[in-house]
Amino acid sequence: MLRRLHSEQPDSFAFTPANQAWAEAQITKYPEGRQASAVIPLLWRAQEQEGWVTKPAIEHIADMLGMAYIRVLEVCSFYFMFQMQPTGSVANVQICGTTSCMICGAEDLVAVCKEKIAEKPHTLSADGKFTWEEVECLGACTNAPMAQIGKDYYEDLTVESFTKLLDDLAAGKVVAPGPQNGRYAAEPKSGLTSLTEFDSGKTQYNASVQLAMDIKDGVKRIQGDEVPLLTPWVGKDGVVAGRAAADAPPKAPEAPKPAVKQAAEVKKEEAPAAEEKEPEVLKEARGGLPDDLKLLKGVGPKLEEKLNDLGFFHFDQIADWTEAEVAWVDARLKFKGRIQRDGWIEQAKRLQVGDETEFAKRAKDEGLYEEED
Ligand code: FES
Repeated sequence: MLRRLHSEQPDSFAFTPANQAWAEAQITKYPEGRQASAVIPLLWRAQEQEGWVTKPAIEHIADMLGMAYIRVLEVCSFYFMFQMQPTGSVANVQICGTTSCMICGAEDLVAVCKEKIAEKPHTLSADGKFTWEEVECLGACTNAPMAQIGKDYYEDLTVESFTKLLDDLAAGKVVAPGPQNGRYAAEPKSGLTSLTEFDSGKTQYNASVQLAMDIKDGVKRIQGDEVPLLTPWVGKDGVVAGRAAADAPPKAPEAPKPAVKQAAEVKKEEAPAAEEKEPEVLKEARGGLPDDLKLLKGVGPKLEEKLNDLGFFHFDQIADWTEAEVAWVDARLKFKGRIQRDGWIEQAKRLQVGDETEFAKRAKDEGLYEEED
């Protein structure tokens, strides 16, 4: 199967505020310079929110992580767990077609999908509510045949129970995941043969199913506010656990200000706007010879064009930005915080005196530019 960007794409993408806060918190898991490590969780959350990974979502995530768009697209197209085409508005149904499930009737379930959803996988049903695909073993072989729909497993399926399941989901009913033949979990069909003392007093559903039933929606798209957003690796003082003290943000003696806010705080208050001051700008490059700003890590062709439009053509201009001037430029870029995060000023100070940064050397050697904005 070819994995590439779908021919039809939405105009834009934005995480919900709660998902954006979650995504920003994920990035703090990784040491400085390794933010790209958060690419898979961020892509996954974008898919959980939208149902599939769109081109604007790839670009948004690349911007957040200071990565070239193509690098994020490469990750997305490599892993089959990422859907690169629209999925059903209710659900994408994943039928396990591996050995146990195949022996126990997976092909019959696929036939149901072909009849009720679409002849071919990854194709929207006529009402747009479903798509389907065959996947490899999902590790529930004892309860074969099975399907994953949303986050949940639906097990011990038959043509009848699976058909009803799709009908109920289409009608917006809450369906109980887990075994569909009366089994509690993965015990023998004839009942427990050991640990029988636990048979009495058990809850109506097994723990996994109960969690799904508690939110009464097994196929919900994730908005980010379903569960508390936890960033336990970020201490109350804003210091990421395990980071060297030298990396910690400077603390005022009384009331330290967290570099990364806990999610609850992010929700409650907006960060106060930093004071802005317009830096000295140029109408054109001095002598008609602009510096190659793409040698700054985090600046790609588009961002270089944007900087030129704003009146910045030379490393020494960037090297001289004050805090208020950084705030002014930052406010005019698509994704805020990039200047400090990528250390443009430190890089520009070195490049303006002919000192080569590691990134600049790689960019020259490999033609590697960071694309964003
Ligand atoms: S073979 Fe289907 S879950 Fe393992």
